[in-house]
Amino acid sequence: MASPDKKTRQEYEKLKAEIHEHNRHYYVEDNPVISDAEYDRLFDRLLEIEKEYPELVTPDSPSQRVGAEPSKKFEPVKHRQPMLSLQKVTTAEEFEEFHRRVTETLERTDVQYITEPKLDGLAVELVYEQGVFTLGSTRGDGAIGENITPNLRTIGSIPLKLSDKTARKYPLLEVRGEVIMRLSDFARVNEKLEEDGKQPLANPRNGAAGSLRQLDPKITAGRPLILFAYGISDRNLDGLSSQRDVIAFLKNEGFRVNDLIRYPSGVDEVEQVFNELTERRESLDYEIDGMVVKVDDFEAQETLGQISRAPRWAVAWKFAAELAETRLNDIEFSVGRTGQVTPVAKLEPVKVAGVMVSNASLHNEDEMKALDVRLGDTVVVRRAGDVIPEVVEVVADKRPKKAKTVAFPSKCPSCGTELIRPAGEAAWRCLNLACPAQVEGRLIHFASKGGFDIDGLGDKLARQLISEDKVKDPADLFFLTKDDLLPLDLMADKRAANLIAAIDQSRRAELPRVIFALGIFGVGEAAARLLAEQFGTIEKLQTATQEELENIPGIGPVIAKTVHEFFENDDTRRMLDKMREGGVVFPRYETERTGGKLAGKTFVITGTLSRPRSHFKNQIEQQGGKVTGSVSSSTDYLLCGEDPGSKLDKAKKLGIDVLDEDGFNVLVS
Ligand code: IVH
Repeated sequence: MASPDKKTRQEYEKLKAEIHEHNRHYYVEDNPVISDAEYDRLFDRLLEIEKEYPELVTPDSPSQRVGAEPSKKFEPVKHRQPMLSLQKVTTAEEFEEFHRRVTETLERTDVQYITEPKLDGLAVELVYEQGVFTLGSTRGDGAIGENITPNLRTIGSIPLKLSDKTARKYPLLEVRGEVIMRLSDFARVNEKLEEDGKQPLANPRNGAAGSLRQLDPKITAGRPLILFAYGISDRNLDGLSSQRDVIAFLKNEGFRVNDLIRYPSGVDEVEQVFNELTERRESLDYEIDGMVVKVDDFEAQETLGQISRAPRWAVAWKFAAELAETRLNDIEFSVGRTGQVTPVAKLEPVKVAGVMVSNASLHNEDEMKALDVRLGDTVVVRRAGDVIPEVVEVVADKRPKKAKTVAFPSKCPSCGTELIRPAGEAAWRCLNLACPAQVEGRLIHFASKGGFDIDGLGDKLARQLISEDKVKDPADLFFLTKDDLLPLDLMADKRAANLIAAIDQSRRAELPRVIFALGIFGVGEAAARLLAEQFGTIEKLQTATQEELENIPGIGPVIAKTVHEFFENDDTRRMLDKMREGGVVFPRYETERTGGKLAGKTFVITGTLSRPRSHFKNQIEQQGGKVTGSVSSSTDYLLCGEDPGSKLDKAKKLGIDVLDEDGFNVLVS
C-alpha cells in the first residue's frame, strides 16, 4: 500500500483541524458557521483519505466519534485522584453555617466564591495525554469508575484534542464534568423510542446515564448528549490558581462550560445568586437540582482540606424538595366561580419546597378514584412553582385499618343544587348562577390582579360582603360607601377608606382587564387582550357577531361561541349597565398610541438581566411585540444581559440591533 505524500498529509491535518473547529461551533457554542452539507463534504473527504491511508488515523480524528465496536463489559478505571462528593445544605441558615466555618478556618471575613448550577446528570472524568483524549470514565464509587471511552468520544462537546500549548504545558490533564441530556432532546428521544415500540427513558438523568452506559457506542452516538466541564483533578498546575482560572481555561480549550456560573463574594451575594438561579430553573432546557458553591482560590481550598469523601471548601445548596409526605385529614369540595366542584385534600400542614401546605387539589372525581384516597391516608404532595399543590400518590402500606372513603357529593355543597356532569367532561358542575360560592369566586376574580386590581379585596372580605348582602354581583362594588363597610369584621376606618380609594381607582381599568375580570369561561388574560385590541371598546365587543369573533387570530370557535353567548345574555347586559351607572369608565383601548409601539417587532432575550425574563417579555408583549427563543434573520432586537453566550454572536453576525437594559428601557418608555 502506498504511503501518503506530503500534500495529502497536509490536507488531512488541515481537514482534521477544520472539522474540530466546526464541531466546536456546533456542539459547544450552538452556533454553526457552515451548512450541514458543507460539513458533510469535509467529513466525507476526511473518511476518503482515512480509507486510503489507514495508518494516518489517530484517536483524535473526528471520525473516531461515530461509535466503535460494542464491548462485552466495562473495564474498571481507578481515578488517580478520587472524585469527591459534596456536603449538602438546603436553607440559607445552613449555608451561613458553612460560610462561618470557612471564614473561621481561613481567618478572614470575606470569601470569594464561585457558584455553578448543580447539574443533574452523570459525572465523568476525561484523561488527556499530550493533549489527546485517551481515557474516559464514570465516577463510579468515587475511587473506581468504568471505562466508557468509546461512548464519550461520540459526544460532540468533548474535544478530542487540546491546543498544542496545553499539550506541552500539561502533558497529563484530567478534566471533570457532567454529561446531561437536554429536556427538549429527552422528549424527542422518547417520542422516537415510543414510535419504535421501545421502552422510553424514565427521565433526562437516566437518559444521560443510560445512554452513556451502553456497551454498543453506536447507541450512544445516536443520543444527543452534552458535557458541561466543571473542573480538573489537579490543583498544582502552573498558571491555574483558582476555580475561576480553570473555568476560563476549559472554555478556551473548547469545552462547554455552563453560562450560569457566577462569582459572588460573601454570604449575601451567594444567597442572591441562589435566588436568581431558583427563578431561572424553570426556564432552563436541562435539569439542575441546586447550586454548587466552591471557595474560588486553590490555596484557600488546600487550607480547608476535606473530611472523608467531601471537601470542606465546597457545598451543594440543594433546592428544597418538591415532594413531601403528610397525613390526609379530610376531603372538602370547593365550588369555583364557574360552578366546577373540586375535591380538596385537607392535610396535616407540611413544608413543600419551602412553603407550608395544608390544602392540595385532588382535581376531580376520576382522579380521586384512581388515587383511591381514604381518610387518614399518608399521601405524597407535590408543589412546583406557582401551581396549586396536588396529591400525587397514596402510600399504600401506611394506610390505617378501616380507613374510610369519601363519596363525591351529588348536590352543590354551597347551595344544594343537584350537580351535573356534562358528557365528556371530568368535572361536576353547579349550574345555579346565584350560588353563593360562585358569586364569591366571581367577585374575587373580578377584583384580582389581572382584573380590576382592587387591592385589599381578598377571600375573607369577599365572603363577608356576600353574606352581609352588601354585594350580589361584582357591579355592586361600585356603589359601596364607607358606611357600608365599617360595620364589617376587622374593618377600621383606615382600611375602609383605602378600599374605597382602590375601588375608585379601578373605575378606569383598561379594557383588557375589564374583559378578563368578567370571568368569561375560557377567556384568560391573553384572549382578553386580543378581544380588546380587536374591538377597542366594550360596546363594539358587546355587539360583535360570532363570525367576527371567530375571525380573530388566536380565538377559536369554542371561545368565540362562549363570548358571543355571554354578551347576548340579559344578566351580562344588566351588569355592564350597572357598572356604567356606578362610574366605571370603560376607556377606549388604543393599541396604536398606548400599546402598539412594538407591534410586529420580534425580540430574543439572552443573558442575565436585573429582573426575571418574564418581566421583559410582558413589557414587550404589552406593547404588541413578540418574544422568540432563537436568533434568526426575522429577529428585530436582541435584549442582552450579562454573560450572553452564542445568541449575541449570532445577532452580531446577522446585523441585528442589540439592546442592553438601558437601551431597552428607552425603547419602551
Ligand atoms: S464539583 C468536590 N460541580 O455533584 C467537587 N459537581 O456530589 C465535587 N455535580 O457527582 C464535584 N454539578 O455529579 C461539581 N458544577 C458542579 C456539579 C457537580 C453537578 C455533581 C457531580 C458529583 C456530585 C457531587
